[in-house]
Amino acid sequence: MSTPPTAPNRKGLVLAGGSGTRLFPLTLPFSKQLMPVYDKPMIYYPLSVLMLAGIREILIITTPHDRPLFERLLGDGSAYGIALSYAVQDEPRGLADAYRIGADFVGEEPSCLILGDNLFYGAYLTDMLVAVSARTEGATIFGYHVVDPRAYGVVEVEHTGPNSAKAISLEEKPEHPRSSLAIPGLYFYDRHAVAYAAALRPSPRGEIEITDLNRRYLAEGTLHVEVLSRGTAWLDTGTHENLIDAADYIRAVQNRQGLKVACLEEIGLFKGWIDRATIAENAKAYGKSSYGDYLRMVAADGTR
Ligand code: G1P
Repeated sequence: MSTPPTAPNRKGLVLAGGSGTRLFPLTLPFSKQLMPVYDKPMIYYPLSVLMLAGIREILIITTPHDRPLFERLLGDGSAYGIALSYAVQDEPRGLADAYRIGADFVGEEPSCLILGDNLFYGAYLTDMLVAVSARTEGATIFGYHVVDPRAYGVVEVEHTGPNSAKAISLEEKPEHPRSSLAIPGLYFYDRHAVAYAAALRPSPRGEIEITDLNRRYLAEGTLHVEVLSRGTAWLDTGTHENLIDAADYIRAVQNRQGLKVACLEEIGLFKGWIDRATIAENAKAYGKSSYGDYLRMVAADGTR
């Protein structure tokens, strides 16, 4: 499974702000992205996706109130072989605001933005992420077939081959969607993202929309779309129903295989960024938890 990291300078951003009002009272004391999805805090899942894509320098954007909690959970990332830094968004101003907050961090490097409440899992996902990350020009968004795309950004595509598609239109939360392809919260951008985001105007709902940033790439003729295959799970966790569905999904997959989804230390090991001795040492802090047991198994070479 070891894959060489490509586009070595690609920066990662996890947007974990917002007030999670749909989950009140759960999210009154702390951030949604710290809520459990079965046996791990939610943010482990999007972080695992960036790591699988080969991205090691990551900025986590949180609310001012939650920042110390994320820092306590994840530290500087060295336990996973990555470098984490933190920034705050004092009020939700839209997803593309991540590129204003993270302007200095990203600079003119390629980057990848993932939402802190989006979960991805599936065969071939790593290969696809690594291939997409290797593109140095333009942006890549994804399309995912859903029953009701009205709550999402929606991409209309024209199929240009058995496995390739071209975007024709992008809409944010359309009343009458032109396709059933929702756009998940995972976006790869080239070096222009910071400049393009700086030029965006707030939408009627007062937000700097990620869909407007993607429209800019569409207008430039440099927007790629990858349609995620049937075997891929994309789950979001905005409501209590979604949250328990995601937990059930992770529990079913993990208990059947005895392998954990989104074990950050295991991914760091597969990527060659940390060694087994480091995992064995860090496992001590996890006591008798199932995560601690799993780390000991990974350290002892038990998952290959
Ligand atoms: C945001 C984006 C939307 C995207 C969705 C994915 O929606 O605006 O385009 O499809 O994330 O989770 P929001 O979370 O703001 O409702």
